[in-house]
Amino acid sequence: MEEKTDAKIDSRTEDAIAKAPMKRILVAYGSKRGSTAEIAERIAQILRRKGAEVDVFPAGQVRSVSKYDLVIIGSAVYIGLWRREVVTFMRRYQEELGALPLWIFSSGPTEPGDPLEAIGTWRYPRAVAPFFDRHPPADSTCFGGSIDPRKSSYFEKNMIRRARVPVGDYRDWDAIDAWAERIPVTTV
Ligand SMILES: Cc1cc2nc3c(=O)[nH]c(=O)nc-3n(C[C@H](O)[C@H](O)[C@H](O)COP(=O)(O)O)c2cc1C
Repeated sequence: MEEKTDAKIDSRTEDAIAKAPMKRILVAYGSKRGSTAEIAERIAQILRRKGAEVDVFPAGQVRSVSKYDLVIIGSAVYIGLWRREVVTFMRRYQEELGALPLWIFSSGPTEPGDPLEAIGTWRYPRAVAPFFDRHPPADSTCFGGSIDPRKSSYFEKNMIRRARVPVGDYRDWDAIDAWAERIPVTTV
């Protein structure tokens, strides 16, 4: 008898999940040379496949965050900093962002191995640390980046050479997909 009741609750819960409205998700990113933009698009693709309604914008083009249930913030890392447009976006919408679940990613290290190991305990630049101290992100990660010397400026090429930074595409699409798969898309 008890088993039957449990079964009823289980199937009702399953129904509720199946009928649950899907989240509206914003992916706001900062990218100088395009490789982080491609990561943002890939994350959006995975979330759409799971049924979410997803908008992807360069952070500087976001005009409102009020219609979203969850926001993903991503930035390329240059000399230890996030792109300025991402920091400005976070400042502009800090009140609304503080009330939403935030998933954040950086893209940077161009070397073999785990990018999280490469960055140690660093997760985001100091400029946004006070905000994340008050509103810790639901999750934060770092993906490998990509340096294409054909897209680099003279100044960047010089820096790459001097710092002996490896050049190449170190984005791990399986790791990016796996992270996106963990982001919840239903509102229950
Ligand atoms: C001049 C220069 C400085 C960089 N500084 C860092 C850094 O401090 N930390 C890091 O992890 N990656 C660094 N990178 C790697 C970039 O973050 C990586 O190339 C990233 O994928 C660029 O993203 P984007 O194509 O979206 O601009 C640097 C790259 C360049 C060219």
